[in-house]
Amino acid sequence: MPLVKMTEVLSWAEENNCAAGAFSVGNMEMIIGAVRAAEEMNTPIILQIAEKRLAQSPMHLMAPMMVSAAKNAKVPVAVHLDHGLTMDCIVSALEYGFTSVMLDASLLPFEENIELTKKVRALADKYGATVEAELGVVGGNEGDTAEHKITCTDPENAFEFCEKTGVDCLAVAIGNAHGNYPVSPELRFDVLEEICKKVSKPLVLHGGTGITDEMFRKAISLGIRKINIATASFDALAKKAKVYTETADKPDYFKLSPYMADAVYGNVKKHIEIFLNK
Ligand code: 13P
Repeated sequence: MPLVKMTEVLSWAEENNCAAGAFSVGNMEMIIGAVRAAEEMNTPIILQIAEKRLAQSPMHLMAPMMVSAAKNAKVPVAVHLDHGLTMDCIVSALEYGFTSVMLDASLLPFEENIELTKKVRALADKYGATVEAELGVVGGNEGDTAEHKITCTDPENAFEFCEKTGVDCLAVAIGNAHGNYPVSPELRFDVLEEICKKVSKPLVLHGGTGITDEMFRKAISLGIRKINIATASFDALAKKAKVYTETADKPDYFKLSPYMADAVYGNVKKHIEIFLNK
């Protein structure tokens, strides 16, 4: 199965009335675990990494692994730059063969977000890549030090934004937040419904960790076609590695490595099962 454009995975989700899982990865074991889960479920997935995470997991090491894993997978896999912050990083991802990019200009004024996203659209078109953008402010942080206060996406603005930028999909803010939620989130499904009425593009839900199965299903029924999961995979890996190192007589990397892959495999599989919406 080839490495595919993210629009192909989103079309598959639309046709099947479900959502594609976009799973953040930070090392080889996470990639192995995520792809194994997708293959076992016979389901397309998106492998992604955020620009902020490149400090620990450099682009020149991660990108070739992610692209190669996609090319060798038995299911369609798109490779996506999540929360790009600079044009340099967008170009670098495209050069490495990512099939999708996102510039997160959601904290900038509306018009500036539009102008920057148009530039990303033009760049991505040279590589035949997909473009995601974000409107409104998703809470929490994505590897950042600042906690962002949630501002829900305005449905009218969402329509204008998609028309003017030509993005392929739009990440919305409906009460969702990155990281572990301190209290159970209350998603604004009324806002999502209004956005879905105005916008014909697939919608993206960030901050998947901690959202309940019921809420995922409702979000999918209202037009969410891509769901991002990061913290749950990183936490699962760290937890399983801790158990292994604390219980093994003589901790051994070659035994630890499959533990880490298994932890991510389990988390990804669990989420794919929910996102398939069957
Ligand atoms: P979580 O860390 O809450 O799963 O969010 C992932 C995400 O939205 C990445 O962009």
